[in-house]
Amino acid sequence: MRVDFNVPLQDGAILDDRRILAALPTMNYLIEHGASIVLCSHLGRPKGKADPSLSLRPVYERLRELMEEPVHFASDCVGPLAEKAVSELKKGEILLLENTRFHAGETSNDPDFAAQLASLGEIFVNDAFGTAHRSHASNVGVAKHLPAVAGFLIEKELAFLGEALEDPEHPYIAILGGSKIADKIGVVTHLLERCDLLLVGGGIANSFLESKGLDLGASRSEPEVLRTAADLLARDGNRIKLPVDLVVADKFAEDAEHKIVDVDQVPEGWWSLDIGPQTIESFTAVLEGARTVVWNGPMGVYEFQAFSKGTIAIAHALAQGKGMKIVGGGSSADAVSLAGVEDQIDHVSTGGGASLRMLEGRPLPGVSVLLDKQAPLPVLDEEGNEKPS
Ligand code: 3PG
Repeated sequence: MRVDFNVPLQDGAILDDRRILAALPTMNYLIEHGASIVLCSHLGRPKGKADPSLSLRPVYERLRELMEEPVHFASDCVGPLAEKAVSELKKGEILLLENTRFHAGETSNDPDFAAQLASLGEIFVNDAFGTAHRSHASNVGVAKHLPAVAGFLIEKELAFLGEALEDPEHPYIAILGGSKIADKIGVVTHLLERCDLLLVGGGIANSFLESKGLDLGASRSEPEVLRTAADLLARDGNRIKLPVDLVVADKFAEDAEHKIVDVDQVPEGWWSLDIGPQTIESFTAVLEGARTVVWNGPMGVYEFQAFSKGTIAIAHALAQGKGMKIVGGGSSADAVSLAGVEDQIDHVSTGGGASLRMLEGRPLPGVSVLLDKQAPLPVLDEEGNEKPS
């Protein structure tokens, strides 16, 4: 079973175990149905060499706390150590293999490495949604050797980020923030094909505002980014809602001097680091009537407390909405948990890059290789519960 246990670590301690918890329904199902489970995952980007600071051992310790069944650990994911551990595994037990990226063959999707991994199991279950946008040996390569199916996390992510947003209830509002427009052009284009209104904040909003001829002080965009932004506004400007005021700072720092200004009043050399109160009010008003909302990307530099108000306010406004509420992974998921509203959101994705790719409407390599990729997905009601088919 491929899982995405790429969790944030600090001095060996897991800072956020959501990705581990998200794998439990599939693990429990497999155990209840008589399997033993060999788990594999990457952690960080060790570049094909063993790096003790990126060992999955802390995850193994966490799994032992979470599971009633015996959990074992093999300090390599292929070769004699892994093979011995698998041969000793009893029915109903779980084995976690060491970081797949300690081998260069993982990210190069080396066929021999994939075959070695595949030899450790009889059926391949992929539940690593967060890695599904990668074409690596442990999620794509192994599927050539074994019957390969999706786990419940992948199924759920596809139901929300795919099905629910392909045929949404209207009004459908998309909120997009984060950094450069160049990275998210595909997302903007795809969202605009379906949503009624796109609310834009963060660095992307700066580029849109600049493309309209406004001077955004130190927050300058590349010329090609400005051209893209101007084209999008010319085509769909009536459905793109931009900030009217901003929180600007005299430097890019937590302790910067800061003030609220209208978008056409950014002082020379100052940085736009958050959306302002009028913008929060108008974005919040729009969200009140929405039947479907998807949010990806923070409204400002929310890691600095002074510039987190816009992002936190949007998280609260989203949580109070009555319709279907879906949040992309990565920093938007962090913001939702920082605001303490996670349990009021229908779906918070476990995948950063993978959820962005879905919002672009592009296929995920880790899903395309699965036998059940065409299986009908559950239909969800507005509370996110499965409707009987
Ligand atoms: C993620 O955290 O987005 C996934 O685990 C993928 O990690 P990667 O960007 O290092 O491939």
